Amino acid sequence: MEGKTALIAGATGLIGNELLQLLLGASEYKEVYALVRSPLEIHHSKLTEVIVDFDRLDEYKQYFAVEDVFVCLGTTIKKAKTQEAMYKIDVDYPVEIGRIAKESGAKHYLVVSAMNADIHSKMFYPRMKGELEEKVQKLGFEKLSIFRPSLLLGKRDEFRLGEELAAVLMKGLKFLFVGSLRKYRAVEGKTVAKAMYKVAQEKEQGKMFFASEEIQDIGK
Ligand SMILES: NC(=O)c1ccc[n+]([C@@H]2O[C@H](COP(=O)([O-])OP(=O)(O)OC[C@H]3O[C@@H](n4cnc5c(N)ncnc54)[C@H](OP(=O)(O)O)[C@@H]3O)[C@@H](O)[C@H]2O)c1
Repeated sequence: MEGKTALIAGATGLIGNELLQLLLGASEYKEVYALVRSPLEIHHSKLTEVIVDFDRLDEYKQYFAVEDVFVCLGTTIKKAKTQEAMYKIDVDYPVEIGRIAKESGAKHYLVVSAMNADIHSKMFYPRMKGELEEKVQKLGFEKLSIFRPSLLLGKRDEFRLGEELAAVLMKGLKFLFVGSLRKYRAVEGKTVAKAMYKVAQEKEQGKMFFASEEIQDIGK
């Protein structure tokens, strides 16, 4: 069967779940490996669900020899409880996935960062995302795509008070986020997923950063 193979991490999340559905429905892909901690309630002929211990990713190398690697992992400080634990999920796991995938011959690495990523920031979250971006650039992929969405919109099983309040505010004030302020406009998780899928089909090589307004345009 013709078509590409893909690896996805974070397929149970807001962006990752939308992306998984897109990949499974896309004619460009013949096989999709999803690295998960617990079973996905999805059955599809193209899907191989791989339940992994993310601290021992080396043990699952056979699933990393793919064309496209999609990483949508992340957590909140509320869930992770400490900055160290959060860093491990948001930076260490994505970098380790990239390292093994590169060694296994993967061509294109696509990862979700955040709008305010900044390695020099004094604040933990933007600095952490900045460090993620620095580290994945050192992996040496022929093609690297870094997505920097603003606040994500979409239906979640868990309640995130801060994000819910910000989303209400953003929706009400949407008319303000035009011109140079458009990058601050909240973006649907499914729009980010669609942008990732579309960028994965482009032929150009090299390193690309996608700001939130570009994600809105590509993923609409
Ligand atoms: N929320 C926002 O407004 C916002 C804005 C900009 C950027 N971002 C970034 O966008 C990315 C994706 O966000 P999202 O909202 O789609 O994510 P999400 O819904 O929170 O999903 C996170 C994914 O990471 C996995 N994960 C969490 N802890 C894990 C662990 N210890 N080991 C293995 N996997 C783990 C989850 O798997 P389980 O189901 O097993 O927990 C899930 O698949 C994140 O990096 C986030 O920082 C978010």
